[in-house]
Amino acid sequence: MIIVVANSKGGVGKSTLAVHLAAWLHKQGHRVTLADCDTQQSSSEWVREAVPEVRAVRLDSPDMILNDLPQLCQETDFVVADGPGSQTETSRALLLRADLAIVPCKASMLEVRALAKATDVLRQAQDIRAGKPEAVIVLSMIGKNYRLTKDMKDAAAALDLPLATRALVLRQVYADAPGQGSVVWNLGSRAQEAAGEVDLLFREILPGAVRNRGRKPSSIKSKKVAVA
Ligand SMILES: Nc1ncnc2c1ncn2[C@@H]1O[C@H](COP(=O)(O)OP(=O)(O)O)[C@@H](O)[C@H]1O
Ligand SMILES: [Mg+2]
Repeated sequence: MIIVVANSKGGVGKSTLAVHLAAWLHKQGHRVTLADCDTQQSSSEWVREAVPEVRAVRLDSPDMILNDLPQLCQETDFVVADGPGSQTETSRALLLRADLAIVPCKASMLEVRALAKATDVLRQAQDIRAGKPEAVIVLSMIGKNYRLTKDMKDAAAALDLPLATRALVLRQVYADAPGQGSVVWNLGSRAQEAAGEVDLLFREILPGAVRNRGRKPSSIKSKKVAVA
């Protein structure tokens, strides 16, 4: 399965989500490749430090993405592609190959409205590919007491994209994780809530990827950050 983390805006949490997703899938026992498709190439360095077992590759051009992704997908169970901030052709190539697009978005009306533009290429791909890739919006960097407003729900509904019930809270520990070469569930007790919410989010989006389904996610005491 090829999963792309896509939003043509920078700074919305794509790399943070992509690295944590790759690491989470590895923790579930899958073979995972992280395809770093951003020119900044920060996520491949991060994942190499945080989870060396995850294969990290850089795909620098739309041609490489179109040509190499299917092979990478055969060699591992999941390819998680970290998308670029602005290069449209790179995003287009990713969306033409992906099975699932995760679209992180900051939780403000301005950002949600901007998503219409930021998801143009996604809609093109879905049009060409009879609905594929499936897509889901994930709110990132929400306030701890954030509640989804009707305005936001309407704006998301107008895009005709589902919104994940779980979201990622704005927490210093996410910003610290790359500097520590780590992911939040390896950062001790101060990262416990973050670890819990990441786990719940990925379980919601990818229920089929969960191994040990009988077991409760560990140490999740946090209040629900559900946004619906
Ligand atoms: N949930 C979060 N809480 C706090 N900081 C975050 C969170 N998600 C991302 N960040 C920080 O915000 C900045 C942008 O995130 P990043 O994942 O690099 O976005 P993108 O890849 O879309 O440019 C980074 O400094 C990152 O550490
Ligand atoms: Mg990035």
